[in-house]
Amino acid sequence: MSNERSGFSSRLGFVLATAGSAVGLGNIWRFPYLAAKYGGGTFLLTYLILTLTFGFSLMITEVALGRKAGTSAIRAFGHFNKKHTFIGYLTTIIPFIIFPYYCVIGGWVTKYALISLQGGIHNAASDTFFTGFISKSAEPMICVLVFLIATTVVVAGGVKGGVERVSTIMMPVLIVLLIGVSLFCITRPGAMAGVAYYLKPSLKGFGPTTILAALGQLFYSMSLAMGIMITFGSYMPKKADLEKSVTQVEIFDTGVAFLAGLMIVPAVFVFSNGDSSMLAKGPSLMFVMLPKVFDSMAFSSVIAAVFFILVLLAALTSSISLLETLVAVLMDKFHMKRGTACITMFIIALLLAVPSSLGFGAWSNITILGFDFLDFFDFISNSVLMPIAAFLTCLFVGYIIKPKVIVDEVESSGEFKRKSLFLIMVKYIAPICIVAILVFSVLEGLGFITV
Ligand code: PHE
Repeated sequence: MSNERSGFSSRLGFVLATAGSAVGLGNIWRFPYLAAKYGGGTFLLTYLILTLTFGFSLMITEVALGRKAGTSAIRAFGHFNKKHTFIGYLTTIIPFIIFPYYCVIGGWVTKYALISLQGGIHNAASDTFFTGFISKSAEPMICVLVFLIATTVVVAGGVKGGVERVSTIMMPVLIVLLIGVSLFCITRPGAMAGVAYYLKPSLKGFGPTTILAALGQLFYSMSLAMGIMITFGSYMPKKADLEKSVTQVEIFDTGVAFLAGLMIVPAVFVFSNGDSSMLAKGPSLMFVMLPKVFDSMAFSSVIAAVFFILVLLAALTSSISLLETLVAVLMDKFHMKRGTACITMFIIALLLAVPSSLGFGAWSNITILGFDFLDFFDFISNSVLMPIAAFLTCLFVGYIIKPKVIVDEVESSGEFKRKSLFLIMVKYIAPICIVAILVFSVLEGLGFITV
């Protein structure tokens, strides 16, 4: 059955589409400030080691599960063992929660890209611009609509003709833009102090929280535990070398995060005269601080436009992967045609985006557990459900169907060089790390600890 499924035309198609999913807002705003905060070079090294061990094992598990089962997450677990179909359902709920609010943020990025293209970065750099914009009712929703239409059109084009085609164009463009802006930023007067701050290994601030912060970031950055890797695995050519592909996606994702740091850390450093606390501003770093930083630079309009276009490309390829995962579920489970599945998801996502968007304006008096709507959906999906789904996936592979299923699938298309590492990871180390991430991220989300 799996052979009849439409899929990527080549290994490169898989690598670029999967990297497109992995490279997103997490790489561009979150990674640089975590790295700057947790000891620069020491954090980078920790992150790289964790990527090649923990991240690698989880990613190859999901991709191999998907390719072997030949179906999206909702049926993949049941394909191996009927009693465990529920893990597929649990995993499927996650992109369903994330997609609508991701489109709200995508809408904000669209707005910033448009305003920068019109030369309006100076306006966007004012203190009240961002809060003024997100607290409106209609305009942010119009931006969501634009972003959602763009995502839906690509996914409606199919795996080869839409997702793969667009990723193979967008990802190289993204890399070129990223290298361009990074070079520009590190050659500004005074930027070298920022580069040193970003890269110099320091043990100050390094501790168990560093490792947990790196693990949590890695998890999100590699789009794990959302059914995306299972779905994309099911589209992967049977002959494509699985280990090599997964390694390339990891290098891509980590490389982009690293370059994003080279772009943002020195720029903020110059602007703030070496005050690194600005980097810790979370989401407002992107929408409030960076416009100010760009506005203070030479060629401000060009650099801001290029930056926000590259962020838009990163956000689009991630939302495409989310929608593709959801559409695949509707097609696999309810036998819908691709077009019908796209329209159905478009309507559902648009409706569900409304509370997340209005939560910053007309509905801002409504909170759940102290969160506004968007942060609540983010908390439930990223901090609670994703670690649970990943934990269950490890137990499922490690103890129910046994890791040999994954090993055989990987070896059917090439060598499995990190097999021993994978076996130890999936059975023992990864489940423990995931429980630690769960506890840490829930405590962090509820405000008991700060990252
Ligand atoms: N991996 C993305 C990032 O680093 C996050 C993401 C991808 C979220 C796909 C949702 C869906 O930003």
